[in-house]
Amino acid sequence: MCGIVGYLGKKPVVPLLVDSLRHLEYRGYDSAGIAYLDDENLFQVYKACGKLVNLENILPEAAGNGTESSSTLHLGIGHIRWATHGAANEINAHPHTSNDNQIALVHNGIIENFYELRQSLAAEGVQFSSDTDTECVVHLLNKLNKASDGSNFIQVLQQALKQLKGAYALTLASRDNPDRLYAVRNHAPLVIGVGSEEYLVASDAVAVASHHNKIIYLKDREIAEISPEGVRIFNLDGEEVQPIIEPLNIGPLQIDKKGFKHFMMKEIHEQPDVVRNSLAGRLVGVDQPIDLTPQVSNNGSDPTAILNQIDRIVITGCGTSFNAGLVGKYFIEELVRIPVEVESAGEYRYRNPVVNKKTLIVAMSQSGETADTLEAVRQSSQQGAKVLTITNREDSSIAREADIVLSARAGVEVSVCATKTFVAQIIVLYLLGLSLAETRGTYPTEQLQALKSGLLKVPTLIESVLSNPEVVQPLAKKYGHARDLLFIARGINYPVALEGALKLKEISYIHAEGYSASELKHGPIAMLDEDIPVLSILVPGLVFDKSLSNAQEAKARDARSIGLTTTDAMVDQAGPLEDTFEDILTIPQVPELLSPLVATVPLQLFAYYIAEHLGKDVDQPRNLAKSVTVE
Ligand code: AGP
Repeated sequence: MCGIVGYLGKKPVVPLLVDSLRHLEYRGYDSAGIAYLDDENLFQVYKACGKLVNLENILPEAAGNGTESSSTLHLGIGHIRWATHGAANEINAHPHTSNDNQIALVHNGIIENFYELRQSLAAEGVQFSSDTDTECVVHLLNKLNKASDGSNFIQVLQQALKQLKGAYALTLASRDNPDRLYAVRNHAPLVIGVGSEEYLVASDAVAVASHHNKIIYLKDREIAEISPEGVRIFNLDGEEVQPIIEPLNIGPLQIDKKGFKHFMMKEIHEQPDVVRNSLAGRLVGVDQPIDLTPQVSNNGSDPTAILNQIDRIVITGCGTSFNAGLVGKYFIEELVRIPVEVESAGEYRYRNPVVNKKTLIVAMSQSGETADTLEAVRQSSQQGAKVLTITNREDSSIAREADIVLSARAGVEVSVCATKTFVAQIIVLYLLGLSLAETRGTYPTEQLQALKSGLLKVPTLIESVLSNPEVVQPLAKKYGHARDLLFIARGINYPVALEGALKLKEISYIHAEGYSASELKHGPIAMLDEDIPVLSILVPGLVFDKSLSNAQEAKARDARSIGLTTTDAMVDQAGPLEDTFEDILTIPQVPELLSPLVATVPLQLFAYYIAEHLGKDVDQPRNLAKSVTVE
């Protein structure tokens, strides 16, 4: 969703911008660009389509290193694009500059009223060169700057921003003020790393972490003016606000594939340790109560009081986080006997949901920055609900706004296709369910203990699946050329079918859908023939027999069927399983309620090997970005 950076200081500016952008590459890779002020006080702009490396390849060796002594101040801005308005080409790449090259600007977000602004500026003679929503901002600023006496650029910014609708984080510079860098935030993340006589603006603290250990988190509708004298912050009404400089506690992003060909495969293999880490200190023994002490409690919240008073849970999130939430619904409702609803954050926030102070909103987000989920959090808080977030980033916008923060503890996930965070989020939801069931006495103690004991064994079960990942490879080759593929399951593994389909879609671009196996006969079965493989997930328990019947129904329509089942089912039900499925993948025996944690792993491998086989860009699939900060 675009990553932006800006630097003011005495270090060579171009290498610094490029290094910072590298840490933001997960946000988009449609194009990259930088602009810096040269010794003649002119903006030098470089842009390239595609990944950051393409920009690096066109940068002159000495670009931005400065020709004068180290006392010279350098200023520059940079951008990584995930295209929203205008094709992913060089013309639409940022930075954008005013017609007279006076102002240069980078943007993350969407200017919703760009069309009106563009029409009115064009009518006044402004020449537009790109199709972006961003370009109107730079021209508007230039127009207002020219109409002012040039003495107060903050005022110009305030005037301009009052005309903008939408979500935006901006970093910009003007040749009139060559020792000033400006940063603006409104519903899109932006931070300022604070060093000794130098400052680094970025969309994410990870880009700052290798350079600085102090940080300012800009708030919505704030403008920062950064100069050698320090950082001044103003709100849109022109009032000056005291900047809050906080210690930055995260380490630099470790970009290391640890011998694997792709981050995705590395992260799939990290899952046993991720589960251990996520359980550590929270589930210490079967007869010990779950300890869900939050990483952070904001707004003076008392987590115990909040969890004691709730009578309903609404889980919200997007994509994989949404799927993890669905698994949580099955688990928590079974154990706690309170209603749990799961809704896509993008839908939830626009339908005036009914919540009150007894509703717990569980906001699921790996990044903690997903715009729809963040807005759902804000809306729920305004309506009086308490918000708990399960996130992998304790420093994120969602974590800063939720009442209770439970960390997924999965470690940095680089692959755009989420794997280990799905499993880690489910673990935390399970712990929440166990904890609520314990305090409310809603589930038999013996069964709670059995679940806890089972959870402690999950890392070993995943290890067993990962001990021979290659068994999935032949299937990937065999089915990797299908145009469509269905994943079906029932009960708590239905969300796993959704997740399996999502993994396959996003990295192989094969059309895949996850369905409840029971839904197949209500429509999708009409599509089935020998060209559409159907992968069924069947774990012994409540819905095994029914799921097997549904798989047989698919086979009866000539679909090529793949089964994903457990080793014990292969012993007890060998005949029917072998009769139903052309190919079978197995996972070790696992209680049905815990099975999503294990069953998801072969599906991740299946998607991975298909994408690999098809020669796709596994870690950075086309059109996607790791953090979706636009609606
Ligand atoms: C997962 O593989 C996807 N890349 C995507 O669906 C992701 O889960 C979604 O955008 C939500 O992100 P979040 O967890 O950071 O909020």
